[in-house]
Amino acid sequence: MNAPLVKIETRGRVGLLTLDRPKVLNALSNEVIDELAAAMQAFDADDAIGAMVLTGSEKAFAAGADIAAMKGWTFQDVYTQDFLGHNWEALKRIRKPVIAAVAGYALGGGCELAMLCDFIIAAENARFGQPEIKLGVIPGYGGTQRLPRAVGKAKAMDLVLTGRMMDAAEAERSGLVSRVVPVERVLDEAIEAATIIASMSLPSVLMAKECVSRAYESGLNEGLLFERRNFHALFATEDQKEGMSAFTEKRKPDFKHR
Ligand code: HXC
Repeated sequence: MNAPLVKIETRGRVGLLTLDRPKVLNALSNEVIDELAAAMQAFDADDAIGAMVLTGSEKAFAAGADIAAMKGWTFQDVYTQDFLGHNWEALKRIRKPVIAAVAGYALGGGCELAMLCDFIIAAENARFGQPEIKLGVIPGYGGTQRLPRAVGKAKAMDLVLTGRMMDAAEAERSGLVSRVVPVERVLDEAIEAATIIASMSLPSVLMAKECVSRAYESGLNEGLLFERRNFHALFATEDQKEGMSAFTEKRKPDFKHR
């Protein structure tokens, strides 16, 4: 049996996933994504887990899709196997929040994988980019779609067309990442954020993620209605009673995730 490509651990109510192909800077392959999807789906179904963190190494979150593997592929190969399709798309359907803790390179598919997470916490040494143009291709896992939504058209065009990298400070300025911290802090910072999220009522966390995600996928009026109906629905949960009672009784809420 081959060594696992993704390390799977837990930290309290947080599922921790670590890409583990150090020799190729965590280059992504179908096999890596299969393992990642299976692990995330298992955490999604596990009542003991409330949020996840996805990370790589200090040198690389992921340096993109595996160029050595892709080099000889033909159109027929990638089209008929639906490369970047079914199993890669499975990550999009994860319902619990996933935080990307990014240190080092997040390039090509690595940048796209980080953007597919719900938010990114970056180390000061993080480098983001979509260098596919330099390989004679274009981003294929959301780079031309998620990047402009995150950083606007001008910077997305700049990055996608020149293939240049941006550092953590530029990524934070342009809205790609939510926080930048020293490299030795990045994983703890992400786990602490995930622990806070996992302490909240799960139904409200799932709905909050669904509603914010909807802002990317619909017009304002449809999104506002979607949000309002979900807000209404949370009044059917025990945790809403507990959360509001705890506030008025000046104590900490004890959420039961129902
Ligand atoms: C396969 C890779 C790789 C990749 C690095 N390696 N990136 N192997 N696929 N994407 C391998 C190198 O070949 C090398 O193997 C080892 O990892 C260390 O890399 P070096 O280049 O020696 O390290 P360094 O000089 O520090 O440069 C780091 C780097 C550079 C700037 C990140 O490796 C680089 O430019 N990588 C490619 C980045 C890229 O173009 N990504 C986009 C891929 S296309 P050896 O055996 O020599 O030690 C893509 C398509 C998206 O992602 C589609 C959706 C997924």
